[in-house]
This record gives sequence, C-alpha cells and structure tokens, in this order.
Amino acid sequence: PRHLLGIEHLSPEDILTVLDLAEKYVDLNRRTVKKTDALAGMTAINMFFENSTRTQSSFELAGKRLGADVMNMSMQTSSVKKGETLIDTALTLNAMHPDLLVVRHGSSGAVDLLAQKVECAVINAGDGKHEHPTQALLDALTIRREKGRIKRLTVAICGDVAHSRVARSNLILLGKMENRVRLIAPPTLMPSGVSEFGCEVYHDMREGLRDADVVMMLRLQKERMDGGFIPSEREYFHRYGLDAEKLAFAKEDAIVMHPGPMNRGVEIDGTIADDINRSVIQEQVEMGVAVRMAVMDLLARNLRAERGRALTEGTY
Ligand code: CP
Repeated sequence: PRHLLGIEHLSPEDILTVLDLAEKYVDLNRRTVKKTDALAGMTAINMFFENSTRTQSSFELAGKRLGADVMNMSMQTSSVKKGETLIDTALTLNAMHPDLLVVRHGSSGAVDLLAQKVECAVINAGDGKHEHPTQALLDALTIRREKGRIKRLTVAICGDVAHSRVARSNLILLGKMENRVRLIAPPTLMPSGVSEFGCEVYHDMREGLRDADVVMMLRLQKERMDGGFIPSEREYFHRYGLDAEKLAFAKEDAIVMHPGPMNRGVEIDGTIADDINRSVIQEQVEMGVAVRMAVMDLLARNLRAERGRALTEGTY
C-alpha cells in the first residue's frame, strides 16, 4: 500500500514484514554509526496537530537515520492558527513535493481524509480515538522480543479503553495475530460493541489479569472526555491502578507495558513502572524508532516502485 493509515488495512503477513525489517534496524540503532541511505534524496514532513514526545521525536530520528531530509512543522505557529483548514494546509505542503507526511490529528478519520488529497505517502501518527498503527507495531515488536512470539498470548489491555486509539490498534493487531485479548475498564470507560472484535470484557482488574502474559496499561485521557464523567484519580488508582498486589494475578513472568505518557499513581504505581524485571516501557520507546524506520523504508520502496511504473507509462 501507499499509506499506513491503520492496522485494520494490514494482513498478518504485512505485520510480520514490518517487524522483521524493524529487527534489523534495532541492531543498526545500537551501533555507533547509525545511518543508512535508504531514504536518501527523500523528504519527510512531520505534521503534529496534537502534542507528542515519543512519536514525533522517533519519527524525526527514524527519518534522519534513514538519510531523509526531515522537517517538523510547528502547528502551534502555523497558519492553522489563522483559520487555514487541515486540507488546505496539506495541499500547501503537497505543493512542495514531500515524499512522506507523518500526521497526528485530534479527529478520527482526519488522516485518511488528508491521504486522499496528497500525492505522497501518509503515515497516521494517531487520529482521535481511531488508530495509532505504529504504536501497535512497536508494541508487537516489544512483545515478540520479550516472549519469543506474537501469537497465542493472553494480553490484558487495562484502563481508559473508550478514548484510546492505542487500545483500538492493539486490539486489531493482536486479534489478527491470533492472541487472546482481554479488555479491563470501568463500565464508563469501556466502549460499546468491543466484543465484536473477539475480545473478552472485564470490569474487575484481578479477574481480567489472571494468568495474563502481557499487561498493557492505558492513561486516563481526560482531554477526550469532553464534559463526560471523569473519575477521581484516587478512586481510579484504588480500583484500576496497576500495583504489585494486582499484578500478582498475572503470570509470574508477565511483562508490563505502557505507551506513555504515563501518570504515576493514577493508572500505574511508579515502582512497577520502574521495575526492570517486569516493565518494558523503555524498550517500547527503543522499538519505536526501529519500527518507524521500517515503516518509512517500506513505504518509500512502494513509492519508488509506483513512480517507476508511472514513468514507464508516461504518467509521472
Ligand atoms: N505513545 C505516544 O503516542 O506518545 P506521545 O503522545 O508522546 O507521542
């Protein structure tokens, strides 16, 4: 495909292709000389309409390590603030002929819409409550490295599932790879209709965590609760925060994950987050660069092939 808009468009083989290539970039990133020229002569533009620490910086590093020219658009100081629409902004950037656009937006579906208007490859870096595909891919790579496989595992996704694009992308990916997925959330933070994804639904942490191989925690996404019920943080931690007592219900060798940013003492106890025997949160960040290198590399190859065909046909 030209774009990466969501895990929903990927086959299990596509997912494994990304993970296998990312493994090569993990090795490369650990060397002193980290650069390749896979994207030499190409330009990537980061357009983040929502805040980001991990995703934006890792896409920037990934592009630079692949030899691309990378530009970070500062959306806070762009003409969006003067009323320019998402589509007009994208068309303006498209006229400068980038090869890759990496886009994060607060509205579900905004990145798909934008992809229909531009000629380059578009990567969804998170759209509203919809999808965050590279997060699910980096989570899958972390799980595979820790557990030796990304199949037939019991994965508990816990917390604010209702507002989480990370939960949605992970649910789809883990389902496609034949894992058993359990969603654990208070009734107010569990979206309706999730069981159609073939997952199990729990409202009690201890029941849901029982014998899990992987425990994936989510942040309370208050910015998306627009006027709805917001639980008290103390009460929430008591019932749904991951601490040693609740984690003891999972398998003895269960790993603890969190996409970040995390709120210590709300959805996760700080000592669990820092426990190097259980927590793989820093490894997730490391895998983020490798997975984004793999995604950019694969899309660039597709783009070059597409342009090659168009040149032969005289349409490029
Ligand atoms: N996990 C994640 O998307 O983090 P950022 O919001 O910091 O990019």
